[in-house]
Amino acid sequence: MCGIVGIVSKKYNILPSLIDGLKNLEYRGYDSAGVAYFINNNLKIIKEKGTVKNLENKIDFKEKVNIGIAHTRWATHGNANKINAHPHNVNHITIVHNGIIENCNELKKDLKDYNYTFKSNTDTEIACAYLSYCYDQNKNIHMTIERFMDKVKGSYAIALLIDNDDKNIYLLKKESPLIIGLGKDTNYIASDITAILNYTNKYISLDDFQYAKVNYKDILVYNKSGDVLKKKINEYKSKNIVTGKAHYKHYMLKEIIEQKKVISNTIFPYLEKGIKSLLKLPNLTKYNQINIIGCGSAMHAGLVAKYLFREFTNTKCEVFLASEFRYQNNFLTTDTFNIFISQSGETADTLQAAKLIKEKKLDSLGIINAKESSITKVVDTSLYIEVGPEISVASTKAYSAQVAILALLVLSHGYRNKTISSKQTESIINEFKKINVFINKMSNKKDQYKMIAKKIYKEEHAFYIGRGLDYALCMEGSLKLKEVSYIHSEAYAAGELKHGAISLINKNMPVFSSATNDKLNSKTVSNLEEVISRGANVFLITDDKNLIDKSYETIIIPNVSIFLKGILVVIPYQLIAYYTAVLKGTNIDKPKNLAKSVTVE
Ligand code: F6R
Repeated sequence: MCGIVGIVSKKYNILPSLIDGLKNLEYRGYDSAGVAYFINNNLKIIKEKGTVKNLENKIDFKEKVNIGIAHTRWATHGNANKINAHPHNVNHITIVHNGIIENCNELKKDLKDYNYTFKSNTDTEIACAYLSYCYDQNKNIHMTIERFMDKVKGSYAIALLIDNDDKNIYLLKKESPLIIGLGKDTNYIASDITAILNYTNKYISLDDFQYAKVNYKDILVYNKSGDVLKKKINEYKSKNIVTGKAHYKHYMLKEIIEQKKVISNTIFPYLEKGIKSLLKLPNLTKYNQINIIGCGSAMHAGLVAKYLFREFTNTKCEVFLASEFRYQNNFLTTDTFNIFISQSGETADTLQAAKLIKEKKLDSLGIINAKESSITKVVDTSLYIEVGPEISVASTKAYSAQVAILALLVLSHGYRNKTISSKQTESIINEFKKINVFINKMSNKKDQYKMIAKKIYKEEHAFYIGRGLDYALCMEGSLKLKEVSYIHSEAYAAGELKHGAISLINKNMPVFSSATNDKLNSKTVSNLEEVISRGANVFLITDDKNLIDKSYETIIIPNVSIFLKGILVVIPYQLIAYYTAVLKGTNIDKPKNLAKSVTVE
């Protein structure tokens, strides 16, 4: 939530790159944006409501600027308006901030006693005032930051400028991500590498309670006590992934289409030498129960794995919403293994749940996209999905890659605990090696998806119903439709509908379903008959050609192992949601009220 960029350079005219970086971070928030920079030693702040484009229109790119910080916001404290937009300035201090200051009310009360007044409703202005108050006491930025870190509760990634110091950007970090990118005669700061990939792929990532002083030559990173630290320089390597939108109109479409490549990238290391490669995945045989924890689509990927673990490896598996996990009794014992799934690696609820597991000294694994992200630093080890930056707020390629790697983890576990034979394991590995072909087949049915989108885009409600694995996939399908097309939809276990929710079925209401399991298909189809007879318009995804019927529209997927089916079923769901959103004219890559990286609880 909220994106921060900063640049300090020997050369002039950083403003275009600052705005470019901000645009690449808009997926983190897009309700207002702002920039602060020094020009001839004078501070200038420009802010606008709405997207970075609105801010861009207000900037004079001819100005000779070589140091600046910028921000794109997802409102937490205070409405989305120009006054609440960052940067905030109090006396000598100007900051942009990502995170939440939890004790802001207490700080505000104290600061008011010292005659500070506030223009905005944000916690950020209070943080800025507190920094200003500390700085005014001693005029020493190191002491100021140490005092701030001692006093302020909550999460923060802060980039800070001080009047009369037009050479340096200062950074403070706790629980919200912040990196420093290394360029030639130029250094960058950003919430994540996507903002600055056009300029550098080398970066340092700050840990909690670290701060930094960055100018165009030097980067000094300190711990809270002011000791200079030696930090590792990371290199971001993307596996032939095209950044930017390429020729696509939206990132969402680009990211759906590139799934054939990025899923192969993700799983190839575990397939290339057959079972030998598969066994590079962690050995889970000593555990009695697998817990999977995540939010939104990441949690939905966990539900697919739960089904596979239970059905095919006879292993207890539970899936938890990270936001609930922390506040309930999870009956954790030393023989439970805990898997945290997160594209961003920054989701606050998932991060806190991972910290809880660490405190209890239980074993954990992250399935993560963003390298060096906060969750990777808390879990014991991480398996990375190699999908490159996911920019569209609605997750597509990350979800599919999570499902793919989880399916292989289940397969390796089944092989190890002998619930899946070597022959079956090899045959599934061979199918996974061809996943790009199967995905391509599903992506190529665009005309059918567009036709379905045309049938549903004027509807206000939809259902997704399925059984077993298909129920888990319904949850993801339903989430995709609602978040990008704003059509209200619900995912239901197909057999449960008649216990209440069937009363909502009206004439023409779209009902999506998938039937990918011979044992359950006939029961699912009976449930579809029940809604058809009440007027619903049914769309069924299946590999069973015998289920083709005139009374509903059928999308056929390749007849492959159930380990791959989750990935194939979800592609029609993603593309139908996309084309429906196109017809509705919504802001597809940045749906209203959402942000990509949910760093608040
Ligand atoms: C839905 C979506 C969200 C995320 C969720 C978790 O399309 O993108 O539901 O899946 O916010 O985010 P990560 O995976 O970054 O932890």
